[in-house]
Amino acid sequence: MDVEEFRRLGHELIDWIADYREKAYRGDFPVMRNVAPGTVKRALPAAPPTEPEPFDAVLADLNNVILPACTQWVDPRFFGYFPSNSSLAAVLGDYVSTGLGQLGLNWQSSPALTELEEVTTDWLRQMTGLSDAWSGVIQDTASTGALVALICARERTTSHGATRGGLQSAGKPLVVYTSSQSHSSVDKAALMAGFGRTYVRVVPVDESFSMRGDALAQMVQSDSDNGLLPCAVVATIGTTATTACDPLADITRVAKAHGLWMHVDAALAGSAMILPECRKLWDGIEGADSLVVNPHKWLGASFDCSTYYVRDPDHLVRVMSTNPSFLRTAADSQVKNYRDWGIPLGRRFRALKLWFLMREQGVSGLQARLRRDIGYAQWLAARVDATPGWKRVAPTPLQTVCVRHEPPGLSGDALDAHTLAWVKRINESGKAYLTSATLDGRWMVRVAFGGEATQQRHVAELWELMQTEVARGV
Ligand SMILES: Cc1ncc(COP(=O)(O)O)c(C=O)c1O
Repeated sequence: MDVEEFRRLGHELIDWIADYREKAYRGDFPVMRNVAPGTVKRALPAAPPTEPEPFDAVLADLNNVILPACTQWVDPRFFGYFPSNSSLAAVLGDYVSTGLGQLGLNWQSSPALTELEEVTTDWLRQMTGLSDAWSGVIQDTASTGALVALICARERTTSHGATRGGLQSAGKPLVVYTSSQSHSSVDKAALMAGFGRTYVRVVPVDESFSMRGDALAQMVQSDSDNGLLPCAVVATIGTTATTACDPLADITRVAKAHGLWMHVDAALAGSAMILPECRKLWDGIEGADSLVVNPHKWLGASFDCSTYYVRDPDHLVRVMSTNPSFLRTAADSQVKNYRDWGIPLGRRFRALKLWFLMREQGVSGLQARLRRDIGYAQWLAARVDATPGWKRVAPTPLQTVCVRHEPPGLSGDALDAHTLAWVKRINESGKAYLTSATLDGRWMVRVAFGGEATQQRHVAELWELMQTEVARGV
């Protein structure tokens, strides 16, 4: 493909994306497609093309095979999982990123890539009310952030055991603490970092699904008394099931008293900290060692864009650094080499999409949208609370409403079957998309607001749909 052909096709593809967004925002597609497993694979040749193909053939497959098998994350009626907004400004930023073909290996391999990442992560730090003791880097995901944090914790507790015999030389088993409501990526990170299932403690939660600081303190003390080495605690601000927030100030006290590394997973709710009225949810954050916020969720940067903040970058760099001769440059002592701030060597120019987004929206634009979404959640919560037969099963501190329809006389497994049936009917209708999850051993339904294109009328229509669909089942 030469540059002129790229120019022509590029314009066509931008039009294609713009048309797609117009249709998706209008609700022209079912939110979830009823696609049978294997549909896409069956529609495509099993072997790669031997000869070049005309680009028109690729576009035809895009329309006929790929698009029909996409779930419409940008549809205003998408209320599943957590929002993953891909704001159009951020889409353009990603275009520029791949168009420039930059690869961050060290500062010199793309000074702009490194320095824009410093600027944007610092802007986000300021926007979320963090002190200037924090330094940021962009990772791919919060899962990577949790892994990096737990490896750093392990290395701090063992005084850099990796440089000697690794975990084998720690003497005592290292223990990680997290709540029953934390994301599965935390558990996975603890296992990948070598702690072992036996030494991952699940701290109980209170009636709001927040970690109990007193229970954490007791578990840490008891492990310590029994000859184990408490190493790290992972707290969550905005849990995946209910957006519960752990009491950071209490957790900090335990962490400080026992020398624990404290990592805060604010993948979703970190974005809400750009609203001063929400900042009370992370009182105590300054006592943590590391923190992750995903602008690729509610804020609007297209996936992947996960910001990871630390208070002691020297420790991070010491744990993660590699220094092969071919990467050394004369500038090394004056610059950040972000390859030493995480796991991969090669890094994408992710800061561009965040930068485009922040500049196009301004802090005020981002704040207005987040406030709007919290308003939607409050609107639905009020309807649920006021309607007989419906129950809100968790507090609604942010943009997710957790509900159950509980018809009289239905409980236990029969109630679960009813819940799963009505959410399935909604999803299969293509008129909205919701996620079910278990809470205290029973199924419930999460309505997660935050889609950029969602308007009040979509929220009202969803509430109508929920009532219609539960009525069909009783
Ligand atoms: C609270 C929380 N933490 C972590 C994650 C994992 O995010 P990622 O896909 O960036 O690894 C999620 C995903 O939804 C989440 O809700």
